[in-house]
Amino acid sequence: MEKEELVGLSRHEYAPMIRPQTEQLLRSLIKKHKPKTCLEIGTFLGYSASCILSECDCTLTTVEKDEQNFADAKENLKEFSSRVEIIHADAMDFLLNNTKKFDFIFLDGAKGQYFKYLPYLKESLNAGGVLMADDVLFYGLVGSEEKVLHKHRSIATHLRLFLQKLQDDADFKTTIYDFEDGVSVSEKIQKEV
Ligand SMILES: C[S@@+](CC[C@H](N)C(=O)[O-])C[C@H]1O[C@@H](n2cnc3c(N)ncnc32)[C@H](O)[C@@H]1O
Repeated sequence: MEKEELVGLSRHEYAPMIRPQTEQLLRSLIKKHKPKTCLEIGTFLGYSASCILSECDCTLTTVEKDEQNFADAKENLKEFSSRVEIIHADAMDFLLNNTKKFDFIFLDGAKGQYFKYLPYLKESLNAGGVLMADDVLFYGLVGSEEKVLHKHRSIATHLRLFLQKLQDDADFKTTIYDFEDGVSVSEKIQKEV
C-alpha cells in the first residue's frame, strides 16, 4: 500500500505516519522475529499496520481513539480484514481491560502517555517479544538542553522517564535509534527455567 493511496489522507494537512527509516526498521524486525500476535497503539489511517501485516502472517490488534481515523483505517486495511482487529478506544482503557498477550508491540500513540502505558505493555508482551516505540526523541527535544516550549515540556519529560525506565529494566534489552524522531526497540528477555 502506498501512503498516497490511503483513504482519509486528504483530510490531513500533516499526516503523522511512520517515516522511511523507521518503516524499514519495523519491517526488518517483523521479518526477523516473525511474531504471531501483534499490537499497535495508534492506528491513524492504517499505514504502519499494513507494513506489519504484509511482512508476516501474524494477527494484529490496533487501537485508535479518533472516530474518523478508525473508520478510514477500516477501509484502508480491508485486504487484511481476516487478520486485523481495529479497536476504537482510548489506548489506556484498552490496556486496562486487555487480557491478551502479544509477541510484538508497536507503540505510536500519544507520546506523553508512553510512560503511563509501559507497565501494561510489559505485562502484555510475551517473553522474547519486542516493544518498538516511535518518536521517543520527539523532534530532538528529549535529549536537548535547549529551552523546550511549554506545550512540549510535559511530553519531553514523560518520554525521558519512559526511556529511563526501559533502560533501567533488567527484563528488557533496549536499543535507541537516533534517526528521524527517534525509535526505541526493547526485547523482553526470555528467562532460563
Ligand atoms: C502518529 S499517529 C499513528 C501513525 C500510524 N502508526 C502510522 O505510522 O501509520 C498517532 C495516532 O494515535 C492516535 N491516538 C492519540 N492518542 C490516543 C489515545 N489516547 N488512544 C488511542 N489512540 C490515540 C491519534 O489519533 C493518531 O491517529
